[in-house]
Amino acid sequence: MKKINILFVCLGNICRSPMAEFIMKYLVSEDGISNNYFISSAATSDEEQGNGMHYGTRRVLTDKGIPFTEHYARKLSKDDYDKYDYIIGMDQNNIRDMLLFFGGDPKNKISLLLSFAGENRSVADPWYTGNFEKTYNDIFLGCKELRKII
Ligand code: 4NP
Repeated sequence: MKKINILFVCLGNICRSPMAEFIMKYLVSEDGISNNYFISSAATSDEEQGNGMHYGTRRVLTDKGIPFTEHYARKLSKDDYDKYDYIIGMDQNNIRDMLLFFGGDPKNKISLLLSFAGENRSVADPWYTGNFEKTYNDIFLGCKELRKII
């Protein structure tokens, strides 16, 4: 069976998108269906290329009991558009940057995470807010709703 490929995207790939990656991996593993999915994350910028997850992200994932593995930030590549079935941004800037980078979204793969929860709202960037708990709650909500449709 072909896997469903899911890519979470944010600006730096050290705070929000890896948080979403590991929450989603956790949700599908809880349902015993990890093998059906390939889940990853990437950045729209190369600001943090090669860096690990932010301490605040590691801390909140640990507090919530979400397992994670070593992570190295990477910038989107052009072939990600064909490789992934769902390409999910955390905020409106991520959506704008991806549309520019990929030159559009002809296969309707790009969406805002919280749109799966029926909300046209961005996930705040804890790099600026310092509030990893609020970001976690928003990302968990989006992933929980995404899980229902995949
Ligand atoms: P993220 O947060 O997009 O959620 O990973 C950020 C991380 C780094 C920077 C900005 C946002 N930065 O400017 O380096």
